[in-house]
Amino acid sequence: MRRKLAAGNWKMNGTGAALAELEALAAAHPAPGVDILICPPATLLHRAAEVAGDAIAVGGQDCHANASGAHTGDLSAGMLRDAGATAVILGHSERREDHDERNDDVRAKARAAMEAGLIAVICVGESLEQREAANTLDIIAGQMSGSIPDQCTGENLVVAYEPIWAIGTGKVPTLEQIGEVHDFIRARLERRFGEGVGRSVRLLYGGSVKPGNAADIFGVPNVDGALVGGASLKADDFSPIIAALESA
Ligand code: 13P
Repeated sequence: MRRKLAAGNWKMNGTGAALAELEALAAAHPAPGVDILICPPATLLHRAAEVAGDAIAVGGQDCHANASGAHTGDLSAGMLRDAGATAVILGHSERREDHDERNDDVRAKARAAMEAGLIAVICVGESLEQREAANTLDIIAGQMSGSIPDQCTGENLVVAYEPIWAIGTGKVPTLEQIGEVHDFIRARLERRFGEGVGRSVRLLYGGSVKPGNAADIFGVPNVDGALVGGASLKADDFSPIIAALESA
């Protein structure tokens, strides 16, 4: 009942030349059996939407909580949508860290994204210190209640579990650890929003997903796809991850 989602977060990587990778990806997956989302830098969004065609969706990596105004350098959710985005990543740990984004900020941005008709891909995840102190589930619970707005549905919300210590490190939690957190997120969504909505929200795992580990991760219950950083930059790396999700 939940359509699987392979999402790529290009972060601050890529100029116009990188669109060739998106073109190759679109050519390799003309009729994908899963949803595919690529979130390039905002400078590429408009061109990426054109190159991606109908089979691949494009999204932003952040948005402002307001619809317009005196916020130099920021982009509103409506602007992302106007450039071709259908989704936006919010509350990524790199933004929480680099820009001191708090749960309240993420929630306000998510509300703005949903009001503009975008899917909010809200990221949660613990640091290594928090995991070692056995605080993972408490941290996730706090991030979820603080960052996820009330008006969400299975259509406008995706939750991405990204343990900070697994991002860009090549370290991946065990399948049991991934399963524990995903089950916990699912249970909390069901408790807060009811079973219907709670069961319809897609949950992504993110953090060092590669062609070699994707199939195992996608076999974990309540993992509905992945949010992929480094391995989404090249079509040759992302394509087998999409294929693994299609056959999961
Ligand atoms: P990596 O796949 O490079 O570890 O990045 C994960 C991530 O942060 C995606 O948002």
